[in-house]
Amino acid sequence: MNTIVLKIENTNDLENIDIAAKALRDGKLVVFPTETVYGLGGDGLRPDVIDKIFKAKGRPQDNPLILHVGDISSVDILVKEIPDVARDCMEMFWPGPLTIIFNKSDIVPLEASAGLETIAVRMPSHKIAREIIRRSGVVVAGPSANTSGRPSPTRAEHAIEDLSGKVDYIVDSGKTIVGIESTVLDVTVDPPMILRPGGVTLEDLRVLIPNVEIDRGIIDENDNLTPKSPGQKYKHYAPKAECILFGGNLNNVIKEISRRIAEDPSKKSAVLATAETIDDYRGVDILINLGSRENLSEIASNVFDALRRCDEEGADIIYVEGFEFRGLGAGIMNRLLKASGGKVVLGL
Ligand code: TXA
Ligand code: MG
Repeated sequence: MNTIVLKIENTNDLENIDIAAKALRDGKLVVFPTETVYGLGGDGLRPDVIDKIFKAKGRPQDNPLILHVGDISSVDILVKEIPDVARDCMEMFWPGPLTIIFNKSDIVPLEASAGLETIAVRMPSHKIAREIIRRSGVVVAGPSANTSGRPSPTRAEHAIEDLSGKVDYIVDSGKTIVGIESTVLDVTVDPPMILRPGGVTLEDLRVLIPNVEIDRGIIDENDNLTPKSPGQKYKHYAPKAECILFGGNLNNVIKEISRRIAEDPSKKSAVLATAETIDDYRGVDILINLGSRENLSEIASNVFDALRRCDEEGADIIYVEGFEFRGLGAGIMNRLLKASGGKVVLGL
């Protein structure tokens, strides 16, 4: 398949927005930007299109998709009911990086929900995304636009690398803002439960839902709990190189990473460091500054790009500094735990 890249810089570019919207209407696959990561879009109510999405990504069949809507009113026909707590969340956090799990209505095919009676819905805040969705008139199923298991795409180039030849269009609107995927909140259970931490934090949600819970299976890679969200059980976000995550006292983390680098100089090493620590490393082949520890939004927006860069530059081993599980840190650590496949040295 010939993949066409459409550069769309703003919502005035109606010509290209309409090309993308028409393609979605015609059952084609369109990679589109969102504020979190790029999505692999297609008509979420058509089983034949959903099947193409799973194939293009190489996604396991039991991992359900998120349906993206352009307006809050589009949710009504997709779900059995909108609980009050969901209504409050939509008012407060939509459009934005919060995905809500509802009991699905009959018009949502079981292919979209991977056989579940629930469906994930989100309204992105990215203006170009919303314009494309609105003008398509389609409910857009959109998993992250990476090959299954690879780091999620925060730039169109990442999607081009993974999906060129497998989708009809890739919309290029530059770097995404949040950089990690949306928070997934299940409101079909009481109390509501966070199944994936993301751009809307536990602390944000507690303002509306004081007793909101977080699925422990997603935070601790070493416990044996089964995550409630199917996507969380797979190896994920993984670079090709071996990746090890370090946590604890920051000075000890720097010392331990430095010791390992000195111990094995034959390996091409990469370190994902921060503004506060970047000057403390010596002899690193690929030294990447994720941003300041004071600004977790900056760290989140750079983390997937950094993991991909390590692969591009041929790292053998990636050492990653950890963060606290507070605020956006929970989402960042969840992705880093998965990227390292459980190879962690914590409590330093
Ligand atoms: O930010 C995002 O959410 C991005 C952009 C493109 O919108 N999309 C995204 O989609 O990350 P995906 O498919 O890569 O991740 C969807 C996650 C998976 O972990 C999946 O298992 C979970 O949501 N999920 C979807 N439907 C679910 C359901 N009915 N019950 C529980 N978990 C569900
Ligand atoms: Mg994904």
